[in-house]
Order: sequence, then structure tokens, then C-alpha cells
Amino acid sequence: MVQINLPQNSKIKKGKYYKDQTGSKNIRKVNVYRWDPSTGENPSIDTYEVDMDNCPSKILDVLNKIKNEIDSSLAYRRSCAHGVCGSCAMNMDGKNGLACTRPHAEIKGDINIYPLPHLKVLKDLIGDLSVLYKQYESIEPWLKNSKKDDGIENLQTRKDREKLDGLYECIMCACCSTSCPSYWWNGEKYLGPAVLLQAYRWIIDSRDEDRKERLQKVADELKLYRCHTIMNCTNACPKGLNPAKAIAEIKKMLVTSKY
Ligand code: SF4
Ligand code: SF4
Ligand code: FES
Repeated sequence: MVQINLPQNSKIKKGKYYKDQTGSKNIRKVNVYRWDPSTGENPSIDTYEVDMDNCPSKILDVLNKIKNEIDSSLAYRRSCAHGVCGSCAMNMDGKNGLACTRPHAEIKGDINIYPLPHLKVLKDLIGDLSVLYKQYESIEPWLKNSKKDDGIENLQTRKDREKLDGLYECIMCACCSTSCPSYWWNGEKYLGPAVLLQAYRWIIDSRDEDRKERLQKVADELKLYRCHTIMNCTNACPKGLNPAKAIAEIKKMLVTSKY
């Protein structure tokens, strides 16, 4: 049997332990992945004892409390704190999600927090999304039509508008793509569920005149057909969207030539 070992410099070590200083009787242990490229050291898991009596309900609140009161060196992304911007996506208790919408009460025992899986890490909980953004750019996520800009709205029927439901809500948080085994192994070539859902969003927009070209562009063994309908993506989406279905719809359109 082949044994695959992590390179020495990827092995995660036990990190620092931050004992509670408040004397609170309501403490939870929070284990957080730490890595600082400027030190040349291996990644580690730091453990923080957090006073939960004075902590609001979401995982992001726990991280903010750690950063503001215990260890200001902790790095993570966040902005809206309302599940809208997608920047606080991370892996909590083994599941990808948005830290600002995930209640810590849902997690039993210690709270374990890691960056999104299978991304290069820039620092601590911040994953490198540059490949995903390049892929997003490649599908040209904007309306393409020949209508002159005459200041009049570009209308569509109610029925056509409804086709965008379940797609336009995507916030490009990458929870789906980073939970997809096909994307883990072929992330440079396979577009992955987030980008393919976005591609489909433009493919079925009745106002867009580039449907055929858009379909031809993604109809590729690697870009599209690496999806094996395992459904991890749909299970991971914190907005309740169904990227696997969007991918299946693209495949169906290509097979039936209904475009
Ligand atoms: S359904 Fe496709 S995109 Fe979703 S996790 Fe599975 S392989 Fe990835
Ligand atoms: S489909 Fe869901 S999980 Fe994927 S990027 Fe969009 S909002 Fe995030
Ligand atoms: S901070 Fe914007 S989605 Fe969480």
C-alpha cells in the first residue's frame, strides 16, 4: 500500500494555550489553526479559553472576542457580519460555513476552527482565493447583449426572472468549491461548483445574448465534466443553494442542445 506523508513543514504542531483571565465559570475551549508565513514555522493549533457569558451567539463573535481581548495577532476575513459578503467562510467543527451565521451553541465540546479546506493558506484562517476569482472572471459574469444604453430598464417576464431564483443569491463564499473532492484534486482546471453555478446564472438569463458561446466555453472535459454529482457542494452551501443542480442543468442543456 502506498503511504502518503505530509511534508515536514506542513505538519500541524500543538500551539500556545491561552488560559482564561476573567475567572468566568462559563468557559469554552476554542482551537484555532494558526500559520504565519513570516516566521518560517510550521502551522499550529492554538487553544483559547473564552468566557461565553460575555460573548454573542455566532462563531464570528467568538473570533472577534479572541482578537479583541486575548490575541490580536489572529488573522481572518470578515466584513458584513450578516451572511451577505461571504468573506468569513471557514471550516468550523469539520463543516464549511459562514462564521457570522453559524451559532456556536450548535457545536458540542471544543470549537475547532480551520481555514477552508484545500486552499493555500495566506495566514491563519485566510485562504488564497486567487485561482477561484480568476476562474470566476473567465466565465464573464456580466450581462452581454446588444441593447443600446438608452436609460430604459432591460425588462424580463416574471417567469424568466424566476429562473434566476436560487442562483442570484450566491455570495461567492467558496464553501461549496472547497468541499468538492473534484475541485480539491483538479482545482486549477475544473471550474468547481461556485463558478459553474455563476456560469449557469448567466446562461439562463433571458436578457443575455451569449448563451450558446457561454455553454460552449464551459463544455469541457476538465472545466465541467469533473463534477461527479457527489453533492458535497450542495450540503455545504450556507445560503441553501444547489450548485450540483445548476451543474446538472448545464450538462442537460448541452446534451439536449436546448439553447
Ligand atoms: S456535485 Fe459536483 S461540484 Fe458538487 S461536490 Fe460533487 S463533484 Fe463537486
Ligand atoms: S453556491 Fe453557496 S456555497 Fe457556493 S459560493 Fe455560492 S453561496 Fe457560497
Ligand atoms: S462577514 Fe460577511 S458573510 Fe460573514
